[in-house]
Amino acid sequence: MDWSVDDYAENASFVSQFGDDVLMLLNPVSGEHILDLGCGNGELAEKIAAKGCKVTAIDSSKEMVNAAQTKGLNAYVMSGEDMNFETEFHAIFSNAALHWMKSSDKVLENVFNALKINGRFCAEMGGSGNVQTIITQIYTELDRRGLNGDNYNPWYFPSKEDYAYQLEKTGFQIDFIEQFERPTKLVTDVAGWIKTFAKPFLNDTPASPCEDFIQDINQAVADTLQDKNGIWYADYVRLRFNVIKNEKPIPNA
Ligand code: BEZ
Repeated sequence: MDWSVDDYAENASFVSQFGDDVLMLLNPVSGEHILDLGCGNGELAEKIAAKGCKVTAIDSSKEMVNAAQTKGLNAYVMSGEDMNFETEFHAIFSNAALHWMKSSDKVLENVFNALKINGRFCAEMGGSGNVQTIITQIYTELDRRGLNGDNYNPWYFPSKEDYAYQLEKTGFQIDFIEQFERPTKLVTDVAGWIKTFAKPFLNDTPASPCEDFIQDINQAVADTLQDKNGIWYADYVRLRFNVIKNEKPIPNA
């Protein structure tokens, strides 16, 4: 999807702020080579590099990769589905990016291949139920316009159980995995969140671009997502994990 770097910096600063918790779990050690998968504007990759690590950063958005490169990072336009690194990294880190990669089997296989033995994959993504109030309302508004939301939904929010199964099937050993609700304070209303984060729902449907469509959603979710002081929250659910590549799995075992 096309990201606006300025819009992201203004409305999405919480993404990298919350990413600090995942960085703690990653615990980067000086001298390690670490891949940031879905690096966005490179804010977190920069923090990893500041620990003395060699960082490679990839993202499918050219705009975001440009922003990361201006921070002096080795950043490349590449998707998790297409990357083909071979046993290069001590760790792979990913914050708020995996839920955009719907071919999760392929991504996990590529992550596994990219890690050295004993390498770790440490990440946070949206888990099942993530932004469900907003999604339900987007579906309702699309339905009112004769459209099926399933055809446009760009996200993959697995449950802890489903993802743990996929990680183990790929060959990872689970060190830690948890799913938790994290209502997230927005700097805008939900209309602003949709404009920043849900562009595929906006751009790909015949209902868009359409301010009415966004405002209808905003109004409908206000009772649930706006507090009595007028502050808006998104109903985020996070799936956070740290897993280890022990050894190559035996084919078809
Ligand atoms: C998330 O971080 O959960 C998220 C980000 C963008 C769109 C949807 C969810």
